[in-house]
Amino acid sequence: MPNVTWKCFDGTTVSAEVDSGVSLMEAALNLNVTGVFGDCGGALSCATCHVVVDETWHDRVPRPTDMETEMLDMVQGGRSSLSRLSCQIRVSDELDGIVLHVGS
Ligand code: FES
Repeated sequence: MPNVTWKCFDGTTVSAEVDSGVSLMEAALNLNVTGVFGDCGGALSCATCHVVVDETWHDRVPRPTDMETEMLDMVQGGRSSLSRLSCQIRVSDELDGIVLHVGS
C-alpha cells in the first residue's frame, strides 16, 4: 500500500499506509489528521480539505480540474502554487511516499 505523510501546522506528523483508490481527504479523516475537515464530503464545495503538496511531489500528482482550481480560490488564508484539494486526489502506487503540508 502507498505511504502518505501529512505534516501539520501544529508540528504533528502523521504517516500511514493508505489503500489505493481512497482520496487523500478520506484518508486524512480516517487518521484524524489535524486541519483536514472535508466538510462537503468530497463534493468540491468547501475547500476545507486543502493541503499543500510538498514541492518534491507537485509534478507527480494529477493536475487539478478547472473546478478545483476555482475552489482553491476559496481557501481560507489563501492558496499557494502548490495548493490542492485533497478530496480530488486519489491514492495510487505512483503517489507512494507523497508528503503533504496542512495549514501552511
Ligand atoms: S472535501 Fe469539500 S472540497 Fe474537498
